[in-house]
Amino acid sequence: MAKQNQFSFLTSAALLVIIVSVSETLCRPLEEEHLLKQHEEWMAIHGRVYKDAVEKAKRYEIFKENVKRINAFNNGKDVGYKLAVNKFADLTNEEFRASYTGYKRRPTRVLSSGEKKPFKYANFTAIPAALDWRTKKAVTPVKDQGNCGSCWAFSAVAAMEGITMIKKGKLVPLSVQELVDCDDNDDGCMGGLMDSAFEFIVSNGGLTTEANYPYQGIDGTCNTAKTANQAASITGYQDVPANNEKALLQAVANQPVSVAIEGGGYNFQFYSSGVFTGSCGTDIDHAVTAVGYGKTSGSGGTKYWLMKNSWGTGWGEKGYMRIQKDVSSKAGLCGLATEASYPTA
Ligand SMILES: *[C@@H]1O[C@H](CO)[C@@H](O)[C@H](O)[C@H]1NC(C)=O
Repeated sequence: MAKQNQFSFLTSAALLVIIVSVSETLCRPLEEEHLLKQHEEWMAIHGRVYKDAVEKAKRYEIFKENVKRINAFNNGKDVGYKLAVNKFADLTNEEFRASYTGYKRRPTRVLSSGEKKPFKYANFTAIPAALDWRTKKAVTPVKDQGNCGSCWAFSAVAAMEGITMIKKGKLVPLSVQELVDCDDNDDGCMGGLMDSAFEFIVSNGGLTTEANYPYQGIDGTCNTAKTANQAASITGYQDVPANNEKALLQAVANQPVSVAIEGGGYNFQFYSSGVFTGSCGTDIDHAVTAVGYGKTSGSGGTKYWLMKNSWGTGWGEKGYMRIQKDVSSKAGLCGLATEASYPTA
């Protein structure tokens, strides 16, 4: 009897080992098959076509790593926001950073017409508890910069569209391409900054409409026939006092504000929803537009800034990001309080 028991124990143990090893070898190809299928589906959704099998295999490996990393993040500790396998999923973070950002830090030189007047909203106190400039019809639909480092132009234009609506009562999508092609203060798809764009807009007598001079996403020659037909203008611009989220709040309470930010990080690349709480540094390389702020509901609500981005509506919350406000670092999360500015009109 004892012998028989021992025999059946050994048999079950052996069987278990066999089952485990079989399921292990079965699981791996299944996961691979699933990921291959997911990549094909993703390619179809995003209209991605690769030039050859070598490129496809290379992109698949990157896609796979991203999917695994995104899933691990989403299944991990809840930090208030989620990532998604979005249109950037076949790019490494280095490739993404090189192609989809484009903010150049402010040079130390003094810009010729850079306003040195005191911060005009310094004494403003009628600050609402929450604000969304979209509900006040001061924000145009989300645009997509594509594979061009023109974030600076989208940010400047969004802030200008906002102040134009506030001052003139009309919301008109303005031309980003005009800045990309004509603004010699900046480098088109190679990058730029909002302050020098505002400066160009003043000297240019304004900007024409998006409809008249539509976005192409490539550096082109300035079409002067089109720029003769300006639809809106600004009188200048001001910098929000640096490293001061309270000053930024005073500005955003009055108008949409251009914000420089470190947007090239991995979690920024794949952000999909919730209040972004990191991770990022303050090495500002991207530009967005602050179009509001608020606090999530519940007792331990998180305060956030509402940022309009220019990566299309498929990124983030329909093209927007909510990002943590009033963090301990004076620079703001991802450096958002370091180089903010707004046009005056
Ligand atoms: C804010 O108030 C102070 C004190 O009254 C005043 O000196 C300053 O000029 C005001 N700033 C602005 C921008 O109005």
